[in-house]
Amino acid sequence: MKVLVSYWTQTGNTKKVAEAIFEEIKGEKELKKLDEVESLEGYDLAFIGFPINAFGPAAPAKKFLEKNAKGKNIALFVTHAAPDKKEDFKGYGLDFEEFQGWLARCKEPAAGANLVGFFDCQGELSEQIANFLKKQEDPKLRTFGELRDKTLGQPDASRIERARIFAREILKKFRG
Ligand SMILES: Cc1cc2nc3c(=O)[nH]c(=O)nc-3n(C[C@H](O)[C@H](O)[C@H](O)COP(=O)(O)O)c2cc1C
Repeated sequence: MKVLVSYWTQTGNTKKVAEAIFEEIKGEKELKKLDEVESLEGYDLAFIGFPINAFGPAAPAKKFLEKNAKGKNIALFVTHAAPDKKEDFKGYGLDFEEFQGWLARCKEPAAGANLVGFFDCQGELSEQIANFLKKQEDPKLRTFGELRDKTLGQPDASRIERARIFAREILKKFRG
């Protein structure tokens, strides 16, 4: 069985999750940036990761999945500045239900795939990105810019551990 772990990242958070997942895979495996992957042919299972950008999947990942995911065994992993625990949403001024919609949008480009799992966790909002978001016209994106302090240090060790558990569960499920 050949397993691919591939990710698109802007500031490194999704890469950290990708590396943790990769470490859990025994046997034939490859870790690649998404722009280094031409197709998913030849892989029995692919973990594909990306950040949420503007309430949905980052554009390069969306494009990649729309082109390549159909009929493939895929596990998605996603990082985002929004919290990953329902009880934390109030403190952020964000709506949990709306956030669920963003996660659903992340799955849409893989609609034709056999989606074997989905993982998400919070990732730090970089200073540069926070400043960029604070200047946007969309008030919701500006709200995000203000969230940086609450995201510092993410994904932390507990989230990386959750990613490892996710990987192990998927591999177990997939191998049967
Ligand atoms: C242009 C832009 C838009 C973003 N929009 C959202 C968003 O809608 N929701 C969210 O939770 N995080 C948003 N973020 C934050 C990133 O998803 C988060 O910091 C992520 O962990 C970055 O991953 P990376 O380090 O792998 O690039 C946005 C970041 C950027 C750069």
